[in-house]
Amino acid sequence: MVGEVLLDGLNLRANPEMCVVVLTGAGVSAESGVPIFRGKGSMWEKEEARRLASRAGPPWNTRETWEFYEWRRRLVKSCEPNAAHLTLVRMEKYFQDFSLVTQNVDGLHRRAGSQKVYELHGNMWQGRCPRCGEVVELPETPLKSLPPLHGCGTALRPNVVQFGEPLDSRVLRLAVEASKRADLFLVVGTSAVVSPACELPLLALRHGAVVVEVNRDPTPLSGLVTRSIRGKAAEVLPRLWGELLARGRHY
Ligand code: OAD
Repeated sequence: MVGEVLLDGLNLRANPEMCVVVLTGAGVSAESGVPIFRGKGSMWEKEEARRLASRAGPPWNTRETWEFYEWRRRLVKSCEPNAAHLTLVRMEKYFQDFSLVTQNVDGLHRRAGSQKVYELHGNMWQGRCPRCGEVVELPETPLKSLPPLHGCGTALRPNVVQFGEPLDSRVLRLAVEASKRADLFLVVGTSAVVSPACELPLLALRHGAVVVEVNRDPTPLSGLVTRSIRGKAAEVLPRLWGELLARGRHY
């Protein structure tokens, strides 16, 4: 990647009217110190994560589940957004139709300053009442009680989609609609194996978008997208943004 022009040969210029969608995964937070889910540097390399996760489970509003989430929340609390998160904030300010779709539940995009974020898998800084469905903010860690309680007295569950559970249909619909109208779709730091998130770049591609992948490693998408760039998100995204802007000036 060093020295190479990332967008060389692509018919792509930045202009504020174009529709840009970015899908992020755990890799975008890796350089902030948040462990990813699969492969080298994954959360499961840590014995404590394996031990706590093995005790978490349905109905998800138990002390054991929250002990696992409190471990993750404590870890993320000490992490800061990195240059990739900050670049996406700048892009949101530039493009009129910009959507950030994330699989991450760490809340770092919002902490960086991104405003419109579709959190496909929820947010670990929120709890949800299994009885009435209300979502409540839980910004402090450690929590005062495990499990935390809703105003109605019911134990809250983390507002995080667990494997096998459906996604919030409104959030998914907005992400699908944005993907269909995208001129440029960036897919950053995801292994692209979890559905339906991994289908969004392909949907955008079918609807005519230029799809650019940024990932440390190859993924099942790498051979299908318009351009696949190997590298760290915090290094590649600022460069890619710089190139886009430079092309835009000559528009
Ligand atoms: P994964 O852990 O599956 O994939 C992370 C990807 O980031 C891998 O392809 C890595 O090669 C890449 N990567 C690592 N460091 C990077 C860096 N510095 N820069 C760029 N890329 C880097 O995470 P996701 O694809 O996000 O679901 O996983 C999808 C979902 O699976 C998660 O949202 C989670 C998990 O089960 C829920 O929590 C519901």
